Order: sequence, then C-alpha cells, then structure tokens
Amino acid sequence: AARRKLIAGNWKMNCLRAEGLALVGELSRRLESAKDPVFDMLVCPPATLVAPVADALKGGKLAVGGQDCHAKEKGAHTGDVSAPMLKDLGCTAVIVGHSERRQDHGETDAVVKAKATAVHVAHMTAIICVGETEAERDAGKAEDVVAGQLRGSIPQGSSAANTVIAYEPVWAIGTGRTPTNDDIAAMHAMIRRTLDGLVAHPESVRILYGGSVKPSNAVEIMALADVDGALVGGASLKADDFWAIAESC
Ligand code: G3H
Repeated sequence: AARRKLIAGNWKMNCLRAEGLALVGELSRRLESAKDPVFDMLVCPPATLVAPVADALKGGKLAVGGQDCHAKEKGAHTGDVSAPMLKDLGCTAVIVGHSERRQDHGETDAVVKAKATAVHVAHMTAIICVGETEAERDAGKAEDVVAGQLRGSIPQGSSAANTVIAYEPVWAIGTGRTPTNDDIAAMHAMIRRTLDGLVAHPESVRILYGGSVKPSNAVEIMALADVDGALVGGASLKADDFWAIAESC
C-alpha cells in the first residue's frame, strides 16, 4: 500500500508565543503554496502553545498535535493535560511514549499503551515512540527491545488510521549521530513485521524515523524502504530546516 509521508516536528520544551507563531506562520505559508506536496506536515508545540498555534492554523493544511497526554480523560491530576482537551483545541495527533517521557517520567509500556488508548478514544492519531538505548544496541539487543516496546505499547484496535510508529534510537536524539542507513532500514523492516498481529493492515501503518534528522541526511533516510517520514526535534524549530527535510521526501 502506498503510504504518504509524514513530517512531524516535536518542539519539546521550546518556543514562547511570538517565536512559535512566527514559525508556524512561515511553515503554513510554504505548505499552502506548495503544489501537490507529497507529505503531510504536523507540528507538536508545548502544551502552552497548542491553542494559539491551532487557532492560527485553523482550516489550513498544517496539522497540530500534542507532545503527551494523560491516560484519563479528566480528574484530579494537577498539571496534566488530557486527550479530549487537546482534541478540543484542534489537535489531530498526540505523541506518546517519547523516550524523554519514558526516561524523565518513568513511563512504562503499560502507561504508554493507556495513553495511546486515550488518544484513540478521543479520535486522534497516536504517534507511539519506541527506540533502544546505546547500551542496548551495543549489547545486540536493539531489535528485541524495540519489538518488546511495540508489543507492550500498542493498544488493541490500533490501525493505520489512528496509529503512527516513531522509531527513535535514544542515542541518536539531539546528538548529531544517526544509525547507518542499513541499520535504520533493518529496524523499520523488523517493526513492520512485528506490527503484523498487533494492528490491522500493518502494510499501511506509517513508521517514522527520528533522531538527528537534518536537511543534510534527510534525503537518504527518507528514501529507505519502510521509512514513511520523520519525527524531528531540533531541526523542526527552524522553518528553513524543517521545510528542507519535508522537501526531501
Ligand atoms: O521527537 C524528536 C526526536 O526526539 C528527535 O530529536 O531531531 O533533536 O534529534 P532531534
């Protein structure tokens, strides 16, 4: 099945309002004037900027997502944001299980799965992140670790319509280092094989690569089999770089 590429920007804990609005203003201007773009584009601002960014982009092609959500739809959870709250602002997707959440907040596969379920229930797409640490790769366990994360984090009822997988080797995030193209292709192929039995129509599910994607390596990475787009951190904060990555599709 033909899979349309998705270029997703994860701003992490960056951008005040003026900066974020200028960034999406520039990106949406380019996206709206692009002739038949072959990619979908998504930005995931910090929770504080989801509302103004979504308002600014209303009715346009540039989609907005959250970086995380709580598994519950409401209740006594000070500081948290629920999936319906993000949906209410105009989000169409939510990143869940990013390695920074798994590390900084102790999120287990079970927690990630519950969050992904909440995203599905709110009629949005869950971008479920997986990836091995450097020690796990050095120990030859990368594929086992990622397969285990997939089995533990993907809820029942997941499909290409509501789920995207993002493979992000932890040691490649923000480091300027990336796996070899062969290693990326092998991992993405393994992920698609593992999706068989976990999701309906695994051949239609988009699998993004993330970790130090930049304009200079995007063309080769986006051309790999089973790489259906990118989850971009640092380079998504610069309109020129993020746009160049998208144009590499
Ligand atoms: O979610 C995005 C990733 O963690 C990648 O971040 O592009 O800054 O390496 P990076």
